[in-house]
Amino acid sequence: MVLDKAVLKEVQKLKKDCIVLSHNYQIPEIQDAADFTGDSLGLCIEAQKVDKPYIMFAGVDFMAESAAMLNPEKTVIVPDLEAHCPMAAMLPAKTIEKAREEHPDAAVVLYINTRIEARALADVMCTSANAIKIVKALPEKKILFGPDINLTWHVHRHVKDKEIIAVPDTGHCITHGRIFSEEDVKRTRKEHPEAELLIHPECLPAVQMMADYICSTEQMVKRARDSSAEEFIIGTEVGMLYRLEREFPDKKFYPLNEKAVCRTMKMNTWEKFVTQLREKKNVVRIDERIAEKARKSLERMLELSV
Ligand code: 13P
Ligand code: SF4
Repeated sequence: MVLDKAVLKEVQKLKKDCIVLSHNYQIPEIQDAADFTGDSLGLCIEAQKVDKPYIMFAGVDFMAESAAMLNPEKTVIVPDLEAHCPMAAMLPAKTIEKAREEHPDAAVVLYINTRIEARALADVMCTSANAIKIVKALPEKKILFGPDINLTWHVHRHVKDKEIIAVPDTGHCITHGRIFSEEDVKRTRKEHPEAELLIHPECLPAVQMMADYICSTEQMVKRARDSSAEEFIIGTEVGMLYRLEREFPDKKFYPLNEKAVCRTMKMNTWEKFVTQLREKKNVVRIDERIAEKARKSLERMLELSV
């Protein structure tokens, strides 16, 4: 998309009192306008450093809510208030309450892709980048983990000495968990035999088993930097390819499946982004009583991540 130069100049002016944080799946124009682009963990860490009154968060609801929780005195705005991650809706708070009753000796570890009411019931949050580390760090031998069944499988594969119970046992990402298949891996491996295959842990176990590396989106950037390989097949949402191509113009990146588009992430258009930078009307509002509890599990994650 060719952008109007006057609008780009206006965006720079509007950013005087506003930090722009963007997830790796956002459209190229938003990634380019951002002060920081990264994965869920990196965005949480970055949100803690903000020294301006406004945060424009281009991602989905649970990410913007994390930024709001970590910055109660700041105003968090988003391009579209309806950008809800469908996986987060798969774990209602009452499911955790029930699981806790059934397993009173278990710690509750929730993936950050979770609604705020559910997060308030967690002992600690995690992201795809630190899930294994967080589960290992806890003293409990029994873990209730949710909502992503595929990430649960990934954690269990690396933490054999703990009982890990999926809550619920059906939660998944409709982009990673339904689109990517073993056939995609066979086809792209054949097309690009020299390429390394990087897979997000939200993918099905059968797909994860075929990966060279399983990593969060930001860990994909690190792997592309550290690896001597010059080509990579990318098993995550297609927005990731722009980030990688921008960072490493001399390396080649191929989508595992070009249909892997997260509709929710792509609700954030350039037009909505600019409008909200101007008007600042789409404010993320969270119930402070719930946020107080949810903040604790998020802060515990950040403590255990260092
Ligand atoms: P990352 O934290 O790895 O960027 O993943 C976020 C996400 O929603 C993946 O679908
Ligand atoms: Fe949610 Fe999947 Fe979209 Fe990530 S890619 S925001 S998990 S629906």
